[in-house]
Amino acid sequence: YIVQVKGREIYDSRGVPTVEADVILSDGTMGRAEVPSGKSTGDKEAVELRDGGSRLGGKGVLKAVNNINTEINDALNGVSPFDQGNVDQIMIDLDGTPNKGRLGANAILGVSMATARAAANYQGIPLYRYLGGTYIQIPQTFHNVINGGEHADNGIDMQEFMITPLKHDTFRAGFERIVNTYHALQKVLEEKGYQTGVGDEGGFAPDLPSSEDAIKVLYEAIEKAGYKPGEDVGIAFDAASSTFYDDKTGNYNFEGSEKTPKEMADYYEGLLEKYPAIVSMEDPFGENDWDNFTTFTKKMGDKVQIVTDDNVCTNPALIRKAIKQGMANSILIKLNQIGTVSETMEAVRLAHENNYTTMISHRSGDTGDTFVSDFAVAVSGGQLKAGAPARSERVEKYNELLRIEEELEGHASISFFPNDVDKD
Ligand code: PGA
Ligand code: ZN
Repeated sequence: YIVQVKGREIYDSRGVPTVEADVILSDGTMGRAEVPSGKSTGDKEAVELRDGGSRLGGKGVLKAVNNINTEINDALNGVSPFDQGNVDQIMIDLDGTPNKGRLGANAILGVSMATARAAANYQGIPLYRYLGGTYIQIPQTFHNVINGGEHADNGIDMQEFMITPLKHDTFRAGFERIVNTYHALQKVLEEKGYQTGVGDEGGFAPDLPSSEDAIKVLYEAIEKAGYKPGEDVGIAFDAASSTFYDDKTGNYNFEGSEKTPKEMADYYEGLLEKYPAIVSMEDPFGENDWDNFTTFTKKMGDKVQIVTDDNVCTNPALIRKAIKQGMANSILIKLNQIGTVSETMEAVRLAHENNYTTMISHRSGDTGDTFVSDFAVAVSGGQLKAGAPARSERVEKYNELLRIEEELEGHASISFFPNDVDKD
């Protein structure tokens, strides 16, 4: 049983404070977890409790840490770590708000993840096995190699341009293609005279004139690395379009002009036609633009994976609503958007039951914690996005998958991207 829960303020990959939690069991076993933090956050995300005031730009998390050390510590004393649902429910009830705003989703998630780790450590089994049982799978991975939007100080309005290995036999072999393409991309950008400094998620942040140019250089990089775009390596993007959506006009301020939803839809369709290596797109429409999002999915959903992130925020109630409406065909999953391990697992289950794919995701502000890699394997989540093969907080997520694949030797299956088989 749990004898102590301890929090502390640590720092994430952007040098911003975040929460770390330790859960200590009666035999001395400990589980520890670090909480990530996003930037292009959805309106309906659970609340990340920040101190405000002048210290550290108001971003301190000492209140959240204090909530762990006092109220949460008291409430979990003597509770079994093996009933994750119960531990999470105790914290949800203790918080008492619908958005975890009183204790802080950062406090609650830290303890929730640390509890799972402590339980796995106690049983002497890997975290992915503890959370996933026997039905586990290595995910298809998406690597953000060109950063734009709010993740980089350049002119590209779309947030993420990703590459993903296709028809690969092992994660290791697929990742090798990604690494080769990443290095080739650096050369392509250098040859064209662009900067090769990286953004928040380890992707390059060149000041390319447009999003389409980013896709063009990805084609070049994939070919330069010796692969075929759309055959060996696919392309995906996260427009994160809420960041350029205007609530008042219902239009999109995209690449220097105001575009109607219809113009945006035509633009995306044009990209798919011109660049058939595109296998997945995330948040093509804004978080208050459910109708246009849905219309687009009805038209294009059988040709490409359409992922919803900011609209549903890993919230089972919102996911239910999105599924009912047919808004997308894939759900992005972020633990800290909802704030507990068990609610995140419910979100995944809900998506899979309704034949939606899921993409498990890191955050743009992240830490060395590799919980998300184990989690993606455990829920047979299908897909994982965890940034470029650069910056240790990103690479460690993939290194963890290499270790897991080695452990599962002979028993590992890879979740293949649906379009691997379906795409003509
Ligand atoms: P965030 O970006 O972590 O800054 O929210 C990730 C995403 O939008 O998918
Ligand atoms: Zn997103």
